Amino acid sequence: MTPEVGTVLVLPAAAMVAAARDALVGRQRDIEVVAAALAAGRSILMEGPPGTGKTTLLRALAAGAGVGLVLVEGNAELSPGRLVGHHDPSRVLSEGYRDETFVPGPLLEAMTAGALLYVEELNRVPEETLNVLLGVLSERRAQVPRFGEVVAAPTFRLVAAMNPFDAVGTGRITPALYDRTCRVSVGYQTEEEERSIVARVAPGPTDLIGAAVRAVRLSRSHPDLRIGSSVRGAIDIVAVAGALGDIRSDGRDVGLDAALTALSGRVTVREGVARSAEDVVADIWAAATAPPPAGDSPGKAIGPDQPLPPLEVRTEAVNHR
Ligand SMILES: Nc1ncnc2c1ncn2[C@@H]1O[C@H](COP(=O)(O)OP(=O)(O)O)[C@@H](O)[C@H]1O
Ligand SMILES: [Mg+2]
Repeated sequence: MTPEVGTVLVLPAAAMVAAARDALVGRQRDIEVVAAALAAGRSILMEGPPGTGKTTLLRALAAGAGVGLVLVEGNAELSPGRLVGHHDPSRVLSEGYRDETFVPGPLLEAMTAGALLYVEELNRVPEETLNVLLGVLSERRAQVPRFGEVVAAPTFRLVAAMNPFDAVGTGRITPALYDRTCRVSVGYQTEEEERSIVARVAPGPTDLIGAAVRAVRLSRSHPDLRIGSSVRGAIDIVAVAGALGDIRSDGRDVGLDAALTALSGRVTVREGVARSAEDVVADIWAAATAPPPAGDSPGKAIGPDQPLPPLEVRTEAVNHR
């Protein structure tokens, strides 16, 4: 039996952590703190760029806790009526406003089922809708016009996510909302972790996975790009290259075309840069697939009876990211 804290039921932290560890590569700390906050009945704001495993984490935590996950994509069209629910207009015409004419939205669904409500891109949600969420955060109940009061089941939690680099509406997240949630900031994972993620989701040759991950990581620090690609881009390179390799029997430009297809729409060229995204991606792919400098590869180790290569003084800037 899980103990009750007021109207909030404690969620099983250990089971949540175990489920998330199985579902995710790395992210140990994030798993632990998000599980702890949810277990303790807190709502959470997760801040991080797209493709950093936020949805995957929430799905696993909900499954581990044995509660549902109701997913809502935040955008300008998410009106209070869409979030909370609304009366079916055609039925209202013939039957009038009745409980049966009410179509619950994701908020009410999650509140009554005791599910986790996961609102992605919270910063894109209109002000009035944010205010509805604020009310629910403070009171664990919602006043629905012509329907009545809905009280959240004890396992209901709100989790919101937003991309801090999103130009849209990030400033609208009010101190009132921050004051009612815990916050976890998630960033990109290490190169090794990203390779493991790609290998799990899109199995492929090790070399290709390595190059795909290198390419997306280069895109995040490329001087001509304002927005680089998440690990999703690397996943798509590997998947598209696999299928393209089957189509093109001579294997010509398979990696490059997969990279162009997977990345050119995901990256955003900086203002004032007179190059196309394709152009930059082609460069990145060339850099990602360039052979490592001689001596770096264990296969090319210099044996005792081989002459040493001439000493090379490197003066060009090296991009370490
Ligand atoms: N740490 C991780 N472990 C396993 N898969 C991951 C991880 N991070 C990202 N992914 C994979 O990358 C993709 C995007 O992850 P997702 O959870 O949808 O990111 P977000 O919700 O932050 O945009 C999914 O295919 C997911 O499986
Ligand atoms: Mg997501």
